[in-house]
Amino acid sequence: MDEAKEVLKKNNHGTFTIPASGIYPHQWLWDSCFIAIGLRHYDVGRAQDELKSILRGQWTNGMLPHMLLMHHKKPTKHEYIWRAELNPFSPDNVSTSGITQPPILAEAAFLVGQKLNAPERKSFYSRMVPELIRYHSWLYEERDPRDEGLLTIFHPWESGMDNSPALLSVIRESYFPIWIRIVEALHLQVLANISRLDTKRHIHLEERTEVVDELLLYTLQRRLRAKKYNSAQIFRNPHFAVQDIGFNSIAIRSNKSLQKMADTVNMTLPQKLLDKFALAEKAIEALWDPTSGQYYSRDFTTKRHIRLSTVASLLPLYSGVIPKDRAEKLIANLRNEKTFASECPVPSVSMSEAKFDADRYWQGASWVNTNWMLITALREHKQTELAKALQTLTLRAIDQGGIREYFDAHSAKPLGAQNFSWTAALAIDLLAD
Ligand code: GLC
Repeated sequence: MDEAKEVLKKNNHGTFTIPASGIYPHQWLWDSCFIAIGLRHYDVGRAQDELKSILRGQWTNGMLPHMLLMHHKKPTKHEYIWRAELNPFSPDNVSTSGITQPPILAEAAFLVGQKLNAPERKSFYSRMVPELIRYHSWLYEERDPRDEGLLTIFHPWESGMDNSPALLSVIRESYFPIWIRIVEALHLQVLANISRLDTKRHIHLEERTEVVDELLLYTLQRRLRAKKYNSAQIFRNPHFAVQDIGFNSIAIRSNKSLQKMADTVNMTLPQKLLDKFALAEKAIEALWDPTSGQYYSRDFTTKRHIRLSTVASLLPLYSGVIPKDRAEKLIANLRNEKTFASECPVPSVSMSEAKFDADRYWQGASWVNTNWMLITALREHKQTELAKALQTLTLRAIDQGGIREYFDAHSAKPLGAQNFSWTAALAIDLLAD
């Protein structure tokens, strides 16, 4: 507990917390949400600041960017990469990215509010609810053009699971520029790796995203920038548009939290938004694949399921709306030693997939934030023992390996960034239980 608090102290930059120094020197959207969930146990003031500080970056159309860039006298590499100012809705006084991340903010705000007394809670929710309404309205207005109740992401980074093989398979099929094919065919990865900062300065190569995948991700980001992050324009000819199962599961849960917060402060949500919320709860059914008995993300354009089983396929448990028989199937998968019950669970990709790689980033390694969401969900599904077992294994991996970014799904070897904020914060939350 003390070590975890120390990490959050070190990574604190005034009103917000960076994920880890060196490799992640800015503020990230869902990281700050997980961080606040830990902070609320011992410094609920700072937890509120953490979430309010996210709102600094909100675009005038309601969008919450996945990164708020740290202010420097000279523009940083990230500012050149993103150039959010190309979009007329980006804010003037803070530099941001041009995409979003899983919408867990409403849920985090709700949880922080639970630690406040009634008047303080009302005051905090009154600050958050109007901006959350704008964010959720933006999500459903801009990212659900067919009015299906399903949100579309434009980049794997928006899923929070950067190099998830399910998502990368879509880019590889629809958008594989010839020059990247040449890099791959001629094994020029070594050259391309020279320019990488994450592996050069911070982390071993075999633990990070593979280089060709990294090139594809950055190239896709440039395509979004070329379209000035304008959703309508991107939808016209998307290189990547996916109804992501993790993103939508989290959105559904947050929709409910937003409703509960609004009720607390007697605010009414717009009817249009309420209709979307209701539709979203039914629409998740379209992501169920009866043949394999699993939920999958779906390609927006082709409407085909992306049949590659990742930890995102389990997150409907966290949505709080799926039928009991479906939930049982997902829980069986969590218990299955051939799929998700590894020695150090829960692997980010099912062990049954050829792409599974126990120590590589979102390609198999286990992460504390997805474990935390699943532990929460398992308790709600009355799977007390399984929740407890996962909680124990998660805390054991951190206790033995340190407050690291992710862990080898078999050996529990600690991997990635050191002193990683959401691992610290969610460990605090798990210990508080
Ligand atoms: C990586 C993760 C993403 C996280 C970010 C900052 O990009 O994939 O989920 O938000 O790092 O920690």
